[in-house]
Amino acid sequence: MTEPEPGRLAWVAGLSRDYTWVEGVPFLSTTRGDLGALRDGFVVRDRDVVTVSYPKSGSTWILEIVSLVRTRGDPRWVQSVVSWERSLWLEKATGVADIERQGDPRFYTSHLPLQFFPTSLFTSKAKCIYIVRNPRDILVSGYHFWKTIKMAKCTESFEVYFEKFLQGDVPFGSWFNHVGGWLQMRGKENFLFVSYEELHQDTRAGVEKISRFLGTELSPEELDSVLQHVTFQAMKDNKMSNFSLLPDFLMDHSKGCLMRKGITGDWKNHFTVAQTEAFDRVYREKMAGLLPGLFPWD
Ligand code: A3P
Repeated sequence: MTEPEPGRLAWVAGLSRDYTWVEGVPFLSTTRGDLGALRDGFVVRDRDVVTVSYPKSGSTWILEIVSLVRTRGDPRWVQSVVSWERSLWLEKATGVADIERQGDPRFYTSHLPLQFFPTSLFTSKAKCIYIVRNPRDILVSGYHFWKTIKMAKCTESFEVYFEKFLQGDVPFGSWFNHVGGWLQMRGKENFLFVSYEELHQDTRAGVEKISRFLGTELSPEELDSVLQHVTFQAMKDNKMSNFSLLPDFLMDHSKGCLMRKGITGDWKNHFTVAQTEAFDRVYREKMAGLLPGLFPWD
């Protein structure tokens, strides 16, 4: 059993399974309470690198890729520092203080919907990478993952979780709103959209696209080394990346793990025909107006 350090006891005492609803979006109790102050007060710097995602989209994967691009394929950093300390969570209670202590160029991560993100991002030259994933696979991944997280509502029934996901009654709210919001940034030169599916299909091309965007020209050997350390198996085996070091008061490791299957299309093993049709109906309605074929799963 991992106990929190004494300084964190008050924070830990405040953890609960109840979500805090802000402007219609449910947040976990690990999220700072004053999101408005974060939105208005945090100053994004031009040299910052930020990865953003809706939970379960492959956030840890993109973080690992960016970490290894930064070290030009040298694995020592990803093998010695846990992922959440390499790239700090902006919305965590201690996030800003920790980020302010980082030297330039800073590297941080967020699950915030666009409307909660510090507005200074939109006038800065900071590089922002947003990873998207088929929401059906996100639903399945989240169903399994949130059972392990002690601040998330425990939903044992897949049917119930399915409905909650469609209603946006899950941590960080509606996938449709999250993606719809961040897609507004498409076309800006300091924004990169990457899909889990394209990374899965051709990781080399995905890593090259990310390193080009970050302005880091990797040698063939450096690229090979990045690729070697971002495979599903390498990350599953890396305790700095697989969440096995997340303290027991946050995660019940007996109920599952972060690196679950790492595949595309697992939703087909979970959805009934009726659920497939119901999901498609909501998807068509909510995503109407987006370019057909924008996402690899469309
Ligand atoms: P599954 O639950 O479908 O296996 P996040 O980091 O946003 O919480 O996303 C976690 C999901 O990304 C999990 O999906 C996990 O297995 C998958 N993932 C993480 N690293 C991966 C990798 N290197 N290759 C493929 N999938 C990966």
